[in-house]
Amino acid sequence: MIVRPIAGGLEVLAPAKLNLFLEILGRRSDGYHELETVMVAVDLYDTLVFNNDPTGAITLHCDDSTLPAGRDNLVVLAAEKLRNRSGREHGVTIELRKAIPAQAGLAGGSSDAAATLVALDRLWNLRTPSQVMDDLAGEIGSDVAFFRNTPAAICRGRGERVEALPKVGPLHFVLICPPVGVSTVDVYRTLVPPDQHLPIGPVIDALTEGQTAALGRSLFNRLQPVAETIVPELKRVRDALASLGPLLDGHLMSGSGSAYFGLARNQGAAQAAVRHLETLGLGRVRVVSCGL
Ligand code: C5P
Repeated sequence: MIVRPIAGGLEVLAPAKLNLFLEILGRRSDGYHELETVMVAVDLYDTLVFNNDPTGAITLHCDDSTLPAGRDNLVVLAAEKLRNRSGREHGVTIELRKAIPAQAGLAGGSSDAAATLVALDRLWNLRTPSQVMDDLAGEIGSDVAFFRNTPAAICRGRGERVEALPKVGPLHFVLICPPVGVSTVDVYRTLVPPDQHLPIGPVIDALTEGQTAALGRSLFNRLQPVAETIVPELKRVRDALASLGPLLDGHLMSGSGSAYFGLARNQGAAQAAVRHLETLGLGRVRVVSCGL
């Protein structure tokens, strides 16, 4: 995430994530799934502006009226949890401009929540210990902790146990966001955990060694066939990426969907892939990158 001081407050750019690998290790007694995933942050950003409110109110204004503006929004939940932890009566006005689509597997809401924790810790001058920030992040959502560890990390447990990876990339992707979203809860409910697990090693080696072709061969997401059963039209997106041949080293669905990405051989190939995919009417198509 990118944090900038502005007059009277802070502006934060909250990135989207892509999963380059996602394996399910089993179902837990609390209903969550134990997973092993590799995530990278990409340069598709929501924008959040934070201004102190001396009245002590926490207020969210969002340019997408379909999103909740109360505690159902992870931004408000994060602000309230941090304020409760501080034991003080801080207030804030938050303006949220959305660019990351919901129900896409890009963790926009989780990234906004992580941005809120980081920004308000600074704005309210709390100096919250790192372990407490990690605990709060884990309580808010499985993907929130990752965004304090960008650009790349291995995430385990529910996703909240994060091991940061050294600098990666640059990597260039073509990203397709279909008009239909997928419910994460539905995907996990439909999933049958596998007996045999695919190892995470090859994707980490390829990522840290900058071997794009090997990375393309090791892309894997256990949730993809499940999402494609729930929303069959997603197979068209997968097939369109598969048809791009030499422009891409591989392609995958991100998280629990519905966004898909192709790993491009280089930036020019990513732009060529966008031009081709834009003609097919599969959804919003753009180039995104990480590690620039
Ligand atoms: O933690 P988060 O709110 O992101 O998770 C959303 C839903 O996804 C959970 O309520 C759960 O049904 C499912 N989930 C899961 N296992 C995970 C992460 C999420 O079953 N590791």
